[in-house]
Order: sequence, then C-alpha cells, then structure tokens
Amino acid sequence: MEPERKTTADGSATFYVPEINEHYHSTYGAVQESMHVFIKAGLRVLMKKTISIFEMGFGTGLNALLTYLEADKYNSIEFHALELFPLKWNLIETLNYQGYLNLTKEQTMIFRNMHSIPWEEKIQISSNFLLKKMKADMNNHVFHSKYDLFYFDAFAPNVQPELWTEEIFKKIFNAMNVHGILITYSAKGEVRRNLQKAGFEVQRLPGPPGKREIIRAIKQ
Ligand SMILES: C[S@@+](CC[C@H](N)C(=O)[O-])C[C@H]1O[C@@H](n2cnc3c(N)ncnc32)[C@H](O)[C@@H]1O
Repeated sequence: MEPERKTTADGSATFYVPEINEHYHSTYGAVQESMHVFIKAGLRVLMKKTISIFEMGFGTGLNALLTYLEADKYNSIEFHALELFPLKWNLIETLNYQGYLNLTKEQTMIFRNMHSIPWEEKIQISSNFLLKKMKADMNNHVFHSKYDLFYFDAFAPNVQPELWTEEIFKKIFNAMNVHGILITYSAKGEVRRNLQKAGFEVQRLPGPPGKREIIRAIKQ
C-alpha cells in the first residue's frame, strides 16, 4: 500500500502510512519540525566546518535536502543515510518540497538526484555535499565510519520499539566521534534512559509546535 499525502499545519506536506497509523513528519508542520529538530538543534550546533552525518530513516529525503541547503556554510558535508523502504521519486515529487521551499531549478535537480543516485555508492551531489544511501535494516546495520551528527528519525517508539533500545543506541554511540551529537524528535522517558545507558549525556530541549520537548544526546 502506498503512503498517503497529507498537508500539515505549516502548509508543507508529509506522508501518512495507514498500516501503522503513522506520519513521516509532525502533523503540526513537516518542514517546521525538520528545521527545528535536525537543522537548528543539530546541524547548527556543531562547531565544525567538515561534518559527517548519518541519518536513520532517509524517507522523503527532507532532512537531507534541508542539510544540503545549509551546505555552503561548511567546507564539506558527508551524509550517509539508511533506509529499508525507499520511496519512489514520482511519489516524493507530489509533496512539492521544491515549491514550498522555493527551490531553484538546480536545487530541485539536486533533490531529485538524491533519490535517483545508486544505493551503496558515495556520490558527490554538489561541490561540498557527498551522499551515500544504504538500503539496509537498522536492526542489523554495521557501521564502518564515525559520525559527528546522527539524525535519529525512525518511526515513533510505540511503533518501532525495537529501534529505540539501549542496544541500538550503544551501537550508534560507538559509531560517533567524541563531542558528536545524536538528535531526535522524541523525548519519551524510556528513550532518554536508553540513551543514557548507552553512554550519552542527554539534554532536553524545547520542541517544535505540538511537541513539548526533543532530545539532544552528546558523546562527551
Ligand atoms: C519518520 S520516517 C523518516 C522520515 C525521513 N527522515 C524524512 O524526512 O522523510 C521513518 C523512516 O525510517 C524508515 N525505517 C523504518 N524502519 C527502518 C529500519 N529498520 N531500517 C532502516 N530504515 C527504517 C522508514 O521507511 C521511514 O522512511
């Protein structure tokens, strides 16, 4: 069954997956949530000019796109993304992030390329943005690199409890550089505790509209 397109409160669109009764982004604002959580509370906090990022759950590519739109502030960004259930471009296109974000022709082409490039290969999609997508399951993924920033964007803990565990967070902790940041939209008590048990120092931050708090976890 294909996901259904929904318009969220900030006017940007997302997908709804009826089988699991879950949206890809917040219904209070898809772009607003991604900007607030992953870009403002994650990317912009790092005090580095050369950054390696891992995203758990590439989905529509919105986080990758918003990160790319910040890329000229950095020397280089290497972005690795894991996705078990890739979406087709002709579906993603219907979300019209290109229109909502007022993308230029070149930026729209790059967003499209993010979806059409081959999996498992490192591709330089712009002068300072390198993308590698991996079609794999987070449950048994083995990390081969270290990261400064981890976008943890799985479906919610009540939908995918097996991904928000101490065991998974420990695996991520071991794949992070010192002072690396894991950022996620859930501030559930159990998620916080599992991150702490995995070794992270956990901060609770104000969430975007519709969400009281989010989590930033740091490898000290
Ligand atoms: C909340 S959505 C992420 C949205 C995405 N970051 C975006 O901006 O569109 C969760 C994503 O995780 C993917 N996913 C779910 N379980 C997974 C698993 N075990 N391994 C890898 N990806 C998974 C889903 O297919 C979905 O694309």
